[in-house]
Amino acid sequence: MLTFTDYYHNQVELSFTHYPFSDTPLHVWVVARYGDKWVLTKHKQRGLEFPGGKVEPGEHEDDAAIREVFEETGGIVKSLHYLGQYRVLGRGDTVIKNIYFAVIDRFEDHPAVEETDGAVLLDELPKNLLRNNQYSFMMKDRVLPETMKVLHAKNMV
Ligand code: GTP
Repeated sequence: MLTFTDYYHNQVELSFTHYPFSDTPLHVWVVARYGDKWVLTKHKQRGLEFPGGKVEPGEHEDDAAIREVFEETGGIVKSLHYLGQYRVLGRGDTVIKNIYFAVIDRFEDHPAVEETDGAVLLDELPKNLLRNNQYSFMMKDRVLPETMKVLHAKNMV
């Protein structure tokens, strides 16, 4: 397990094992790929980030991941791979998120969601995201580079 602090100095614990922090995570984060491109969403306040969000009551977290990708990017998920979980120990609440890798089959029209401006496809992620104010805080801690390492090690990208 890795422990570090995030952009807001909250403590984060990260592990790429099977459901290390909760059997019923309430949040999902999806590193999405379409062909050889990364698929992000442009959150109106936070900026560019991989899609994700909250699991709805009664919903399975895998279904939440597929739903969030569609709502935030219009992408139809062809395959979804669980990679790990992280726990953010915030001031008020603790957030536990499943990390997924998703391959997108195609894009379809999706109803506009309030929070995001939809899909942004990128050949490469910029190198120094920490100082890039176009990007969300969620892309600025060790979760992203550690997830990329796992994806490369598994030959998924
Ligand atoms: P809403 O309830 O949707 O308005 O959003 P919220 O930001 O108040 O709630 P959420 O439960 O999504 O997140 C609570 C806090 O946890 C955030 O303000 C962040 O500080 C932290 N957090 C949530 N997701 C992440 C994440 O992916 N990475 C990191 N580092 N922190 C996160």
